[in-house]
Amino acid sequence: MDIIDRQNAIELGEAEALDLPKFDTYAICNLRGGIGKTTLSFNLAYYADRIIVADTCPQCNLTWFFDHDYLSHVSVSVYDMLLPHFVPGLGFATRVSRSISATNQYFEGKNAFFLPSDNQLYILPSQITTAIVQAERMTGSQQTRILDSMLFSLRDELRRELSETKTERCLIDTSPFFSGATHLAWHACDALIVPVRTDQQSINSLTLLLRMLSDPSSEFRKICPSNGHTPKIQMIVLTHCGWSTVKNARNVPNKQTKIYIEKTLDIIRQNIVHFTTDNPDNHILLLDDFLGTGRISSAKSKPIALLNVGEGMTINRVRTEVNSSVEKVKRQLKYISDSIWWEREAKIGLPVE
Ligand SMILES: Nc1ncnc2c1ncn2[C@@H]1O[C@H](COP(=O)(O)OP(=O)(O)O)[C@@H](O)[C@H]1O
Ligand SMILES: [Mg+2]
Repeated sequence: MDIIDRQNAIELGEAEALDLPKFDTYAICNLRGGIGKTTLSFNLAYYADRIIVADTCPQCNLTWFFDHDYLSHVSVSVYDMLLPHFVPGLGFATRVSRSISATNQYFEGKNAFFLPSDNQLYILPSQITTAIVQAERMTGSQQTRILDSMLFSLRDELRRELSETKTERCLIDTSPFFSGATHLAWHACDALIVPVRTDQQSINSLTLLLRMLSDPSSEFRKICPSNGHTPKIQMIVLTHCGWSTVKNARNVPNKQTKIYIEKTLDIIRQNIVHFTTDNPDNHILLLDDFLGTGRISSAKSKPIALLNVGEGMTINRVRTEVNSSVEKVKRQLKYISDSIWWEREAKIGLPVE
C-alpha cells in the first residue's frame, strides 16, 4: 500500500513532500468530538511561525492549552470579536490575539498568537440565525452585502488580526457541531484539515461533513455568500492509528487501522472533487495513537515536539512516561505541518535552495 510505504518513509525522515497546493488559513474540523482536533491544532501551532491559532470551540480546550488561567486573563474573546457582526450597535474589537509565549513557556521565542474562545460561543448559533432571518427580509444588493458581511465576519476579523500582529498564517480549531462559529470558520478558511479517528462514528461524521459541502440544501450551502465560497479538503488525518505487534511486522498497520485506511480512501475517491488535488493518495496521513506521550503533552500543555523518551510524570496517581514512539510521532506531525504551509521563499517568489 503506497500510503503505508509513505508512512514508513516519514518515520525514516525520507518521505518526499506531498504535491499539494498551499494556503494561508485552515480550519481543523470534523463534526465529532474526541478525535484529535484540538491536539492537532496545538501541535501544529508549535511547528509554524508567524501564526495565529483561533479557538472557535465553546469548550475552550485549546485556549486552556495556551493559557491555564484564561478565565482570569481573557477579557476579549472570539465571541466578542464576532458578535458586533450580528448584533447592531456593538463596538468592534481590535487586537484580540494574545502572544502564546506570554502564558505558555514552551512557546518562548515563537512568533505565535492565539485567539481565545469563550463558552458564550454556545449561544452564537441562535444569534447568527436571528440576524440571518432579518437579513433575508431585505432585498437586492443590500441583502447580499449584509449576508456577505455576516458569513465572512470571521475571515475579515482574522485578516485584521493577521495584519495587526504582522503574522501570515492561521489555524482555526472548531467545535464538534456545525452551527455558529464552525459555519463561519468554513467561510474564513481556504481549506479544511479533517481528523478522523479509527472508528465508525468518525467515518460517519466525515460522510456528514462531505454532505454539508456538497448538498445545495445543506445548512452550509443553503445560505451562500455572493462568491459561492466552498472550502476544499486539504487533508484527512487518520488519528489513533496502531501498528501490528506481530514479530517482524513492525511497519504493518493493525487490523483496525487497515480497515479505516481503506474506508477513508474509498470515501476520498468517491468525493475527490471536494479535495484540493485529484489524487486520493495525497489526502490521507496517519497519526499514531500517542499513548502516554499524549497524556503527558496534555497534562503539561507541552508540544509533543519538545518531549523526550523517558520523560515522565504522575497523572491521576499513575506514573506515565513518554513512550519510545515519540520520535516517530514528531516526524508525522512535522510532515503534516510541512504539507500545508508555504515555504516563505516560495511564497514571496524567491528561489528555494
Ligand atoms: N493521536 C492520538 N492518540 C492518542 N490520543 C489522542 C490522539 N489525539 C488526541 N488524543 C486524545 O484524545 C482526546 C481528545 O482529543 P482532542 O484533541 O481534545 O479532540 P477534539 O478536539 O476532536 O475533541 C484527548 O484526551 C487527547 O489527548
Ligand atoms: Mg476540541
